[in-house]
Amino acid sequence: MSKGLFITIEGGEGAGKTTLIETLAEYGAASGRTVVTTREPGGIPIAEQIRQVILDPKHTAMDARTEALLYAAARRQHLVEKVMPALNRGEIVICDRFIDSSLAYQGHARGLGIEEVWEINRFAIAGMMPDLTIYMDVRPEIGLERISRGDNREVNRLDLESLAFHNRVREGYNLLLQRYPERIALVDAEQTPEAVAAQVIALVEARWGGFLASRVK
Ligand code: TYD
Repeated sequence: MSKGLFITIEGGEGAGKTTLIETLAEYGAASGRTVVTTREPGGIPIAEQIRQVILDPKHTAMDARTEALLYAAARRQHLVEKVMPALNRGEIVICDRFIDSSLAYQGHARGLGIEEVWEINRFAIAGMMPDLTIYMDVRPEIGLERISRGDNREVNRLDLESLAFHNRVREGYNLLLQRYPERIALVDAEQTPEAVAAQVIALVEARWGGFLASRVK
């Protein structure tokens, strides 16, 4: 049993995950907690290399199942090398994207099926589901507009998908909210970054409080 707290942040393109994660990390550090922030696909060298292969805009030939398997492989390695050791040390891990991205993007939007994609991910994560997942909901036209305005964000192969694809991603996340109501919390990501952060901090604080109290003994 791990002693830490595993939080994942999910959402479509331009939902503001990066800004939120920075705020949460500052907040956690200011409260004297050790917070590890990381991202998928990537976070460690092997997974960053897999990321390059998946997201390269030149790889238009990539098959949807290959894509799903590569995400699952990167996820496994990142869990073993980075997430699990931190949780075992009792730290709080905040991860930008995790299994729900695969279920929403590959399972639903690509049409592989949420159940099929769940099966390969069940194998990859071997029981390591997040304690809490924040889903940042934004309409794709707003999210894509936000990233097109940003100047420090690389455009990857999945950003180049159609608006219809990103609408299916959002639909996929909504199915996951119904499937995992206990684990996934919905946050309206069209609010200001400050309002989003305040809402998420309140939510996470409720969970952290409980988690910390149960671990003091
Ligand atoms: P990234 O540049 O990290 O995008 P973002 O800032 O939106 O998180 O690229 C990650 C891309 O990979 C993003 O388009 C979502 C996609 N993705 C999947 O399709 N499945 C997955 O399992 C994961 C982790 C990401």
